[in-house]
Amino acid sequence: MSSLRLSPQERDRLLDTARQALKRAYAPYSNFHVGAAVLTEQGQVFSGCNVENASYGLTICAERSAIFTAVQQAPSPKLEIRAVAVVNGDELPCSPCGACRQVIFEFGEKAIVIFKGQKEYLEMPIQDLLPESFRLS
Ligand code: THU
Repeated sequence: MSSLRLSPQERDRLLDTARQALKRAYAPYSNFHVGAAVLTEQGQVFSGCNVENASYGLTICAERSAIFTAVQQAPSPKLEIRAVAVVNGDELPCSPCGACRQVIFEFGEKAIVIFKGQKEYLEMPIQDLLPESFRLS
């Protein structure tokens, strides 16, 4: 498993894919449109968007949407995430929520997370975003 920094090409590809996914966001309640893209250790990219519901708590974030798609569609049976990028339609600072951090960690203990910080896009290892993460066994 590699925790190497992403190349500029990998980073651009992930951000572009997340921006495409953002167009499919279903967010009539918050109006906050989010897209995410996952890069696997094998080099495949999967995307997702947030999908809200009139019963607000049923909403799924873009990051988990992308990861669950990757679980279903990645050719190798055990998904290993190398990086996740998240973007939003308002270009607001937006790091993954706590639930998404735990799900990222499940499939990529050394994953790099790309998100909009206070000024520019930041790259942070999931272990910095989620110290003392939960793991069974
Ligand atoms: N949301 C995401 O999809 N990802 C994040 O990292 C932050 C929040 C979504 C959930 C909800 O649809 C909307 O943004 C407002 O919270």
